This record gives sequence, C-alpha cells and structure tokens, in this order.
Amino acid sequence: MALGKKKLIRFKENCNFSCLHQLNAKEILKSPHPFRGSWSAKQFGNQQGLVLELGCGRGEYTLGLARLCPEKNFIGCDIKGSRLFFGAKQVEEAGIKNAAFVRGAIDLIDRVFADEVDEIWITFPDPYPEKPRKRLTSPVFLNKYLKALKPSGVISLKTDDYGLFRFTGWLARENGLKIIKSCENVYQQTEIATEETIETTYEQKFIAAGKAIHLLKFILDREIKPL
Ligand SMILES: C[S@@+](CC[C@H](N)C(=O)[O-])C[C@H]1O[C@@H](n2cnc3c(N)ncnc32)[C@H](O)[C@@H]1O
Repeated sequence: MALGKKKLIRFKENCNFSCLHQLNAKEILKSPHPFRGSWSAKQFGNQQGLVLELGCGRGEYTLGLARLCPEKNFIGCDIKGSRLFFGAKQVEEAGIKNAAFVRGAIDLIDRVFADEVDEIWITFPDPYPEKPRKRLTSPVFLNKYLKALKPSGVISLKTDDYGLFRFTGWLARENGLKIIKSCENVYQQTEIATEETIETTYEQKFIAAGKAIHLLKFILDREIKPL
C-alpha cells in the first residue's frame, strides 16, 4: 500500500482513539483546552502526578514510562498524527490506563496544561544547529513549559546532539537553574536508572550509528532570559 494511503488510514483510526486528543489551534488560541489544569482528573479519573513527553513521535518513551510507573500519568505530545497513531493504538489495544496523547503544536502547550506537570521529557528533538531560537529548549519554549509545570518541575532532555546538550546546559546555568543530572553518555554510567534506558525510534537509529546519548535534567523554577 502506498505511504500516503497508509497515513490516511491512520488519520481516520486516530479519530476513534479516546486516548488521543487532537488540538484545533484556532480554538485553543481563542479559549484554553477544557482539561487545562485538571488533566489527571478529567482524562485519567485520578489525582496522580503528570509527566509529559514533547515531540514524542511514536510515543515509546511515554509508553515505557507508563508501564514502569503505574502510579503516575503520562501524556505524549507531537504534531504528527501518523506517528502518534502507533502509541495511541498500543494504549487502546493493551488497555494502558495511565497514558494518553495530544496531537498539536508544542507552541500551544501553555494553552493546554497549567500548573499541573511534574516533569517534561524532551526526547531527541530536532537540534536546529543554525537556529537556536527554534530549539525545543530555547527560552521561548522553556517559558511556556514553566506555565505548564508545577513549582520546581523538572525538564529532562535526551539527545544525541552534543551541541544541543551543551546549549541547554549553558542556558540552565546562565539562568541559575539547578542541574540535577548532566551525563555525556547514558549507557556508560556505572549505574543507570531503568527509565533512562527506554529507547525511542530515533534513539535506536542513533545507537546503531554508534552515537553517544546525552541526558540533562534540571529544575525549571523561573523565567528564562531571552537569547
Ligand atoms: C526527531 S523526532 C523525535 C521523535 C521521538 N521523540 C523519537 O525520539 O523517536 C522530533 C519529533 O518532534 C516533533 N515536533 C517537532 N517540533 C514540534 C512542535 N513544535 N510541535 C509538536 N511536535 C513537534 C516532530 O513531529 C517529531 O515527531
């Protein structure tokens, strides 16, 4: 079957997944998402802590974390419905109760979540070597995440791109943020947390190409100065 046709079938199936929320950007800009501030109660029917994965692609990290930590809720966000389809299908078929997905631009995140997120994972984002302002860890994005996070929420970045890893660490230090972990090679640690070993589609490709995987974790508790 042609790829275009496969994608159309996935888009159609996406409409039937109760775990997948598809944002209408115009509507969200007019009025915030109805679940904003109470996703755990409204989506999952509980008061568990909430963790996001941004640019989640097929959602491997979201699903891996959800399986590891049933006592928390996990939401993966991405603009590409054809990728989210794979994660959402698994949630529906395996009956995973603590994972969901949002399709839409991460730029809208502060219209969708408010003061309710414990941790945000950013997994293998595009590094934009020539355009630092477009990076998902640039000040404009971090200041949006700040609104979605609870006080002293955590940002966790996993990347193969050393430039992005260094840039994000520099930005955190420049703004006086507390760095919890800065690791140049996740798989060369003497002790590795299970949650750090979940592999995404992109990560598998980078590992196969012999690239080191970097991890940075810091507390985002204040506004970040513009570049
Ligand atoms: C390099 S891929 C990584 C996907 C996945 N995290 C992985 O590791 O396999 C980057 C992902 O971020 C998503 N993305 C990039 N910018 C975005 C934005 N502004 N809003 C929503 N999704 C975005 C893309 O659609 C893509 O799926």
